[in-house]
Amino acid sequence: MASKSLPVFLLFLSISPLLIFVTADEHEFGRPIDRKALGLKKQKLSHFRFYWHDILSGRNPTSVPVVQSPMNSTTFFGSVNMLDNPITLGPELSSKLVGRAQGFYSSACQSEVVLLMAMNFEFIEGKYNGSTITVLGRNPVFHKVREMPVIGGSGLFRFARGYVEARTHWFSATTGDATVEYNVYVWHY
Ligand SMILES: *[C@@H]1O[C@H](CO)[C@@H](O)[C@H](O)[C@H]1NC(C)=O
Ligand SMILES: *[C@@H]1O[C@H](CO)[C@@H](O)[C@H](O)[C@H]1NC(C)=O
Repeated sequence: MASKSLPVFLLFLSISPLLIFVTADEHEFGRPIDRKALGLKKQKLSHFRFYWHDILSGRNPTSVPVVQSPMNSTTFFGSVNMLDNPITLGPELSSKLVGRAQGFYSSACQSEVVLLMAMNFEFIEGKYNGSTITVLGRNPVFHKVREMPVIGGSGLFRFARGYVEARTHWFSATTGDATVEYNVYVWHY
């Protein structure tokens, strides 16, 4: 009897590590995968140009102060504006709407006006409709060209990285309204 049950016991011993492996695999946390599993092809570089309208004045502002500077600061240090700004193909607000910039900027410097920008560009144009690009960066607003990093994206911009160049096209010192040209250079799939 004992001689007959031995092979069964050995069989159990030999498959039990496999059972443990399969059980562990079910709860696996991370593993490398092939890029094809996500349908990712060759990485490409794209350039986008549009105009960003920061509208503080009038009855329908798109950029609103949500936190005032808590001190008497010439640079409005600590203030925060929340924005849902239209972005258009041309510099005129009436030109074609290609998306919106949603996020906030905050005054982050005590010696000059430098904004911390945190915003998502949500596009509605053509195949980019619904895709987003996220910008997080330092914006010294009175400089001619401000460069800020593209830190990611969604949709067609998954795995995005790159930078933007912002140039003030028009600014009103009385209302604070501004139109800014954005050139976006982004790597994506
Ligand atoms: C704010 O600062 C300016 C210049 O530094 C000064 O003239 C003004 O009196 C200050 N205002 C207040 C309310 O402290
Ligand atoms: C963008 O996509 C949304 C949702 O799928 C759709 O309702 C809208 O009409 C599209 N806009 C354009 C401009 O294609």
